Amino acid sequence: MNVNECIRSRRSIRKYQSRLVDHSIIDSIVSDASYSPSWKNTQITRYIAIEDLSILETIAEQFTPDYNSNIIKQIPVLIAVTFVKGRCGFERDGSYTTKKKDRWQMFDVGAACQTFCLSAKDHGLGTVIMGVFDEDGITELLQLPDDQELAALIALGYPDIDPEAPKRKTTDILLQYR
Ligand SMILES: Cc1cc2nc3c(=O)[nH]c(=O)nc-3n(C[C@H](O)[C@H](O)[C@H](O)COP(=O)(O)O)c2cc1C
Repeated sequence: MNVNECIRSRRSIRKYQSRLVDHSIIDSIVSDASYSPSWKNTQITRYIAIEDLSILETIAEQFTPDYNSNIIKQIPVLIAVTFVKGRCGFERDGSYTTKKKDRWQMFDVGAACQTFCLSAKDHGLGTVIMGVFDEDGITELLQLPDDQELAALIALGYPDIDPEAPKRKTTDILLQYR
């Protein structure tokens, strides 16, 4: 699959087969995602691949709205995407480098998530990034270290549907030349 095909055919998948995903494939996807650009090459993004059924059930039952728990109940593995705090967007003395303050952290995680999803697509897997969840509840459940923050969840599994792309804005709206 070439890059353009991968970018254009990746979809958010909300219906999955029960088939398990080999660790070698998850390793390979995370290795691909490690080539994402990052602030001063700080590489703050981390991934927790959750396969434990009791943890998945707790996240689905207690920490996500129905539209996300319906996805989590189907998947063999949920990726909790976290980041190491206080590096990306910061000077060595702890001050912010730019007016955007610490928002570069989420920027870098976003770039890594897109690379992750494109690599998953290239490996025949479906993904959907989920941003709506109880951050405090999942942080405690996963016992995240104090220097890390939960950024997003990504469902990962073999797709059971091949949805059409939601409508895209055209380049005349998206792009200006000056
Ligand atoms: C930051 C972010 C948060 C998202 N949160 C959710 C979510 O909580 N639940 C969900 O089903 N989809 C979620 N999505 C998926 C979007 O709805 C989806 O990307 C968009 O509708 C475009 O569809 P496509 O990914 O198939 O191109 C999220 C996407 C992003 C980038």
